[in-house]
Amino acid sequence: MSTHQQAQAYNYKVVRQFVVMTVVWGIVGMAMGVWIASQLVWPELNLDLPWTSFGRLRPLHTSLVIFGFAGSAQFAASYYAVQRTCQVRLFSDKLAAFTFWGWQATIVIMLISLPLGLTTTKEYAEIEFTGAVWMAIVWVAYGIVFFATLMRRKAKHIYVGNWFFGAFIVVIAMLHVVNHLSIPVSWFKSYPVYSGATDAMVQWWYGHNAVGFFLTTGFLGMMYYFVPKQVGRPVYSYRLSIVHFWALITLYIWAGPHHLHYTALPDWAQSLGMAMSLILLAPSWGGMINGMMTLSGAWHKLRSDPILRFLVLSLAFYGMSTFEGPMMAIKTVNALSHYTDWTIGHVHAGALGWVAMITFGSLYHMIPKVFGREQMHSIGMINAHFWLATIGTVLYIASMWVNGIAQGLMWRATNDDGTLTYAFVEALVASHPGFIVRFVGGVCFLSGMLLMAYNTWRTVRVADEKLALNNASLA
Ligand code: HEM
Ligand code: HEM
Repeated sequence: MSTHQQAQAYNYKVVRQFVVMTVVWGIVGMAMGVWIASQLVWPELNLDLPWTSFGRLRPLHTSLVIFGFAGSAQFAASYYAVQRTCQVRLFSDKLAAFTFWGWQATIVIMLISLPLGLTTTKEYAEIEFTGAVWMAIVWVAYGIVFFATLMRRKAKHIYVGNWFFGAFIVVIAMLHVVNHLSIPVSWFKSYPVYSGATDAMVQWWYGHNAVGFFLTTGFLGMMYYFVPKQVGRPVYSYRLSIVHFWALITLYIWAGPHHLHYTALPDWAQSLGMAMSLILLAPSWGGMINGMMTLSGAWHKLRSDPILRFLVLSLAFYGMSTFEGPMMAIKTVNALSHYTDWTIGHVHAGALGWVAMITFGSLYHMIPKVFGREQMHSIGMINAHFWLATIGTVLYIASMWVNGIAQGLMWRATNDDGTLTYAFVEALVASHPGFIVRFVGGVCFLSGMLLMAYNTWRTVRVADEKLALNNASLA
């Protein structure tokens, strides 16, 4: 099918909308990240106002990047890939449009309510009850559009990428509903039905699987579609991809207690979480290797194709963070890393290195196709973006490793008489240089994002203008 025919046959409008909003929320969410990073360097930037304080902007940053940026990216990629692999138009244009506007409304609710201090206080599930109900309705609509499209497919089998997207949709629905079960006392306040250690366990069952499904499974779906497409070769092993899928979804769900080591949670549950996290290394690396090996015989393409470079580097960071995670889940290691910047470094190795980079690669692949252009306006700018993102990520992670280990060691150091060697503030002072380096890394990463926005705008608009000029000269 030609690009023009595809544009007629498939619903690319909703894909275009989600693509644009991925870039927009990426910029807003990462700018918020840079702002809170600078607040940790220069506390005056809290501006002495409640709604611009670190405590309120931090959950806003996480919500915007996770639900706005990563969420919109997964909507775009799944809608694009499911249509092309099933060779059928999305089920119901109207319902698909509802998912777009409904999801954007959810992010706007977060954008307004979180700075106002309206929060459930549960990490990554801060949106209050009314917003959470709305979010669930939109998610169900997403499930209907996705699965009804699958059911109407013209291709016989279901491509493995769609298995990952499907699992992402089903499991997120389950996590969201169970973790948000609460008793509303007004439109803007509710209390969870769980309490104490049960509440903590449910929250981290949710929290860890939000990582596993919102920041991993959907992106693996993306990997299975866009890596083979960009390389121009089939996926390395279809059999491995099926084993990868079942092993990953079976194991992830048990690993949550590694967030609650040395707490009131029963000891056996903590040990189970640790054991499952260690086993999780195997399917994670199976997936990474499957993606990497897809390049067999085509490694030379990396020299000239910055889009492929984004995709491959994202897999390398996925491998790195899924090695680091199981190590941090070991109780004795966690005794050092927990509460320190090491965790923050691990998070961003996954978030910047894996989630954001695979998104960039996939968007650069998709944008020309869904806007009917031959290629992105500037390949040089993609290359510059690649280096800004890489340098930014490395600065971020390296500074947080140094900070994290220093903090962990300083907090546990004791004198011969049993008193603490360092006051808390001394560890904070020692962390200051690392905070500055992280801020610089964040600025690099955000600049790359701005370059992407400009490149996208030029690809869409300038090509439109050229077309109009050509038409005018023909007329
Ligand atoms: C320019 C890029 C970014 C910068 C400068 C940045 C900065 C920050 C900062 C300063 C924090 C708070 C750390 C603390 O409390 O000590 C944070 C937390 C967090 N960020 Fe980012 N961020 C960026 C991009 C992202 C992206 C793209 C994602 C996800 C896709 C993300 C996910 C998170 C998460 C999940 C946390 C909470 C971590 C935890 O509680 O352990 N960030 N970020
Ligand atoms: C096999 C895979 C992984 C395992 C076993 C794992 C394990 C861990 C462990 C042990 C922690 C520290 C918990 C604590 O001390 O509080 C953690 C934190 C975290 N990880 Fe991973 N990780 C894995 C992969 C990833 C990936 C790929 C991402 C991102 C895309 C990610 C995102 C996070 C986030 C956001 C947190 C911070 C949660 C919080 O405290 O707010 N992880 N992970």
